[in-house]
Amino acid sequence: MFPSEVTDFFRTQKTPFYYYDLDVLNATLEEIQKHGLSKGFHVHFALKANNQPKVLKLIKEAGLGADCVSGGEVQRAIDSGFSACEIAFAGVGKSDEEIELGLKHDIFCFNCESVQELEVLNELAGMQGKTARIALRLNPNVEADTHRYITTGLNENKFGINASDLDEVLDRLPDLNNLKLIGIHFHIGSQIENFTPFEELCERANMLNEHIENRGFELSVINVGGGFGINYTHPNDNAIPDFERFFGLFESRIKLKEHQQLHFELGRSVVGQCGSLITRVLYTKYGETKNFAIVDAGMTELIRPALYQAAHRIDVLTSSKRDKNYDVVGPICESSDTFRTDISIPEVVRGDIIAIRSAGAYGEVMRSAYNLREANSSVYSDEV
Ligand code: LLP
Repeated sequence: MFPSEVTDFFRTQKTPFYYYDLDVLNATLEEIQKHGLSKGFHVHFALKANNQPKVLKLIKEAGLGADCVSGGEVQRAIDSGFSACEIAFAGVGKSDEEIELGLKHDIFCFNCESVQELEVLNELAGMQGKTARIALRLNPNVEADTHRYITTGLNENKFGINASDLDEVLDRLPDLNNLKLIGIHFHIGSQIENFTPFEELCERANMLNEHIENRGFELSVINVGGGFGINYTHPNDNAIPDFERFFGLFESRIKLKEHQQLHFELGRSVVGQCGSLITRVLYTKYGETKNFAIVDAGMTELIRPALYQAAHRIDVLTSSKRDKNYDVVGPICESSDTFRTDISIPEVVRGDIIAIRSAGAYGEVMRSAYNLREANSSVYSDEV
């Protein structure tokens, strides 16, 4: 992953910064083409996972569409060359301005989550003299078996239309003349490694598909969302998620009617493994009970450990000394600013370079300016 010339280059750069290995990204995209797109599935990349223009360009060129959750993302997708007819716009709280932007560009589909949202969209579409294509985001009440902050498909979550409200929504639709229902949409959560929740999702999706079509609506889009997890523990051995198994599961379990197409919205599984956060050891502290490696990246660059107790693999790129136990921590004045606790890594000294792995998804996009921290530009493997 990091040949010596790359590590030497890192030493010359101002840290911390995100590094993207485009070979890993391209290899991942090839697998998605081979096991997903080739079956006629539509895969929209969730820009919320990563919105770097260079990353988006490769994803677009590979034939994926875009899944956006804000006006900013819709604009970024358009600026990155995605055509409007490949852009889906989801989100539980779309503002009027964001909806207007989507309408202006005639995007492929709005994934809608409530009657009130449908009414607003209908009104705004009417004002532009347009018909908005919509998919209903349905809450399938499926346990995703992941961190509770990234579980989205349970009745207690704020997302989607619950089964008990569905008929009321369907009753309202014929009056909303500026909307055209084209599909149903689900997303049960993120970083899902166990396939059982996806199997349950398929069952619920089949049932709801049947129910809505029986009510006289024609659904051409069955969108099962994203959520496919990556291996944070062994990113080298498992750089590319098992897309054959993932797409195969949906292929065998989702019952599509002849006029229907299967859509996905993948984020993490596309970009997670191609990115690393590169940081430098500032200081070491050897205490009574603990040793600390204090690095120049913090929760401002990668918030996942602080927010979801995520454990990203840590590779020391410039030391081959004997292993020692450390807490690897950042410079921010919060105890949650800790990347890993009590891990065994080669002994480090001031100046050593560390890669925090599997940070391509929900890393750079969730960066904050807390403490007025400066953001260094990202580096790509084809520039080294
Ligand atoms: N579609 C919808 C409607 C979503 O809400 C999400 C992610 C995706 C697709 C893409 O899911 P993926 O394939 O990436 O799992 N910041 C958190 C993850 C938040 C995910 C939010 N929704 C993290 O760092 O783990």
